[in-house]
Amino acid sequence: MAAPAKEAKETTTQKIALTGIKPSGTPHVGNYLGMIKPALKLAETFQAFYFIADYHALTTVNDPALMKQYVYEIVATWLALGLDPDEVIFYCQSDIPEIFELTWVLSCYTPKGLLNRAHAYKAKADANREEGRDEDAGVNAGLFSYPVLMAADILMFNTEVVPVGQDQKQHIEITRDIAAAFNNNYGKDVLTIPDAHIVEDVATIPGIDGRKMSKSYGNVVPLFAPPKKLRKQIMRIVTNSQTPEEPKDPDVDNIYNIYKYFASPEDLARVRKTYLEGGLAYGTMKQELFERLESTFGEAREQYDAYMADTAKMDKILAQGAEKARDIATPMMHKVRKTVGMQ
Ligand code: ADP
Ligand code: TRP
Repeated sequence: MAAPAKEAKETTTQKIALTGIKPSGTPHVGNYLGMIKPALKLAETFQAFYFIADYHALTTVNDPALMKQYVYEIVATWLALGLDPDEVIFYCQSDIPEIFELTWVLSCYTPKGLLNRAHAYKAKADANREEGRDEDAGVNAGLFSYPVLMAADILMFNTEVVPVGQDQKQHIEITRDIAAAFNNNYGKDVLTIPDAHIVEDVATIPGIDGRKMSKSYGNVVPLFAPPKKLRKQIMRIVTNSQTPEEPKDPDVDNIYNIYKYFASPEDLARVRKTYLEGGLAYGTMKQELFERLESTFGEAREQYDAYMADTAKMDKILAQGAEKARDIATPMMHKVRKTVGMQ
């Protein structure tokens, strides 16, 4: 008799969830809470396509050894956190050449003005202007057309939901606009219009300095760093100079604002009380956060280390995933070519 859990899933496999992570740095707690954890939950009921966006990373990562290292780190992270490659179609973007064909087609349906407003490019252009440089200084065309490649990732697989953190919302909106323009022109719904899946409570996890936790700000809590390194980073969390005796507002404290995602309701209530009444030393709180992270991720770290020591195993998993993804991408690209009059 088939296992009931599996059967339940098979009846709902029509709904597609898809997401990607750029291999541009070591995965952190913000990636986990904001995207990986919600995505793993979705994979229980949706047919999930989760992939490594290595072509996106090429806009900033120019060292081949580093690129390889980051790809493996992301693969090992997903697997250590519980992604089942027999259930999830798990692959590397660069193994699916059809995504590039679709990128060109979609770029012909993307108003350039839409890309001018895309946040990654706009932030760079604004900063250049502010500092009196040419607005396009240091901007490669890959960075500029980044959202079109992302739209191709999503639209290739008839994606309905895209689990992401808040910072990716605009990219999903751009994807929707491009898909609608394409469908409109040909008068049929060839491309599925996707929705972002953003979990409000974890949409923007703060880093050790209180800004959004991000590889580009160097303020991350890494997921699988060795304990010593993790502890050192936790001890670097920025706090104010209040003494332990003084009452404090937990909601503006950087330690509390990370701790709250990992504590039980009882511990959170206890800690909150100490903040508000006075008697809380930041050093003790940092130690408590460190221990909480250790108990949450310690076991997964062992798995992570085991995968990192066996890159051949990861290569095999990705190759199998790419095969499954191409089984879908090839007919989809055929349909798109036919739609535009090329077949
Ligand atoms: P980074 O900003 O560190 O470069 P990525 O762009 O690689 O992170 O993000 C990968 C995924 O993790 C995206 O879906 C993104 O929205 C999510 N994410 C990244 N940082 C955070 C954060 N601080 N809070 C919530 N989600 C985040
Ligand atoms: N742009 C995403 C990020 O920086 C990564 C990504 C690439 C992605 N293609 C995607 C996310 C498709 C969701 C769907 O995090």
